[in-house]
Amino acid sequence: MHRFDAITAEALRSSGSMKWTTYPDAIGAFVAESDFGVDPEIAVALHAAVDRGLVGYLPPAERTALAEACADFHRLRFGWEIDPGDVHPIGDVISALELTLAHFSAPGSKVVVPTPAYMPFLEVPLLAGREIVEVPFATEADGRSVFDLEALDAAFADGGGLLVLTNPHNPLGRVFTREELSAVSEVVERHGARVFADEIHAPMVYPGAVHVPYASISEVTAGHTVTATSASKAWNLPGLKCAQLILSNAADVKRFRPLKQEATIGAGTLGVVANAVAYRRGGPWLDEVVEYLDGNRRLLAERVPELLPGVRMRQPEGTYIAWLDCRELGLGEHPARFFRKNAGVVLTNGIDCGEAGAGFARLIFATPRPILEEMLTRMAAALDDLSAR
Ligand SMILES: Cc1ncc(COP(=O)(O)O)c(C=O)c1O
Repeated sequence: MHRFDAITAEALRSSGSMKWTTYPDAIGAFVAESDFGVDPEIAVALHAAVDRGLVGYLPPAERTALAEACADFHRLRFGWEIDPGDVHPIGDVISALELTLAHFSAPGSKVVVPTPAYMPFLEVPLLAGREIVEVPFATEADGRSVFDLEALDAAFADGGGLLVLTNPHNPLGRVFTREELSAVSEVVERHGARVFADEIHAPMVYPGAVHVPYASISEVTAGHTVTATSASKAWNLPGLKCAQLILSNAADVKRFRPLKQEATIGAGTLGVVANAVAYRRGGPWLDEVVEYLDGNRRLLAERVPELLPGVRMRQPEGTYIAWLDCRELGLGEHPARFFRKNAGVVLTNGIDCGEAGAGFARLIFATPRPILEEMLTRMAAALDDLSAR
């Protein structure tokens, strides 16, 4: 038995997290949070920071420590050489997108979002007064989702100026190959467009897949990309408000200079401390979590066809997100509503991830295995009741 198996729903609920208290009568699998506690290295560093009174504005030494730790992590883990001077703290990945929309993409240009997509990517551009072009992923014969390059090309021809490229992908769980990313970069470059590369899930990639940072591929990708990442998904720190903006070309570095103070103001000092420790000393905890999640992913691949006939799922290559194709169940566009009401399991409706997600549901599987089993058992019982009606 793994020590994470012993974490109970009662303990999680009493911890007071959003995932476990928003729906007090149900199991929450709708928000990308994990249930494995805090890496002790990070907990110790945070306690020490609070004891030192480090709760004021961000000191330069902490900013530098984060930039260096983030750059080292990317070099050691993904082979991407980044100058720490090009790594900047920011409140979160969404703020990095807002900044990119305002300052690193052609004013008024459309935002191209491959769908299904992480839900806020279909809202934030609208709030910034920008039009969104949803470009559904294509599906290969084996069920793998791939970029529809022709449709992307048409979207850029139709005024698209910025591509939101999430890799590893939420909700599909794809980890795109170098070849796939290079093919996308040719389309982007042909239209003189830009890429917002969201790589927040990069530390969570399973055996068989390799994360390739998009901007690391070539001078071309470095030249048209703004990258955003954070330790906040892999080490479960999103409430501490710290992500990193990574610049990869001289023009963006120059453009960013007058924005730096304003852009980084949203990063929390304790979040910066925690992210730096995660990158610097969080390797063992991360490896344990990824190995455990790999077990959860394999359990889903085995149990979903058995327990939930009619639901299709492709094993994710990265992330802790399962994308369930529920279209054959005849539950309409909102299968998550059915499971919330009849199984007490709260998923995300796929349609919230764009039109292409209608009839799908998104399940966060970063939870102890007995709880994951319980979710599947409850969902299976709800489907049994439905077919008995
Ligand atoms: C792909 C992706 N991007 C961004 C975010 C949000 O990141 P942040 O809290 O830093 O805005 C999430 C959160 O789940 C995500 O899955």
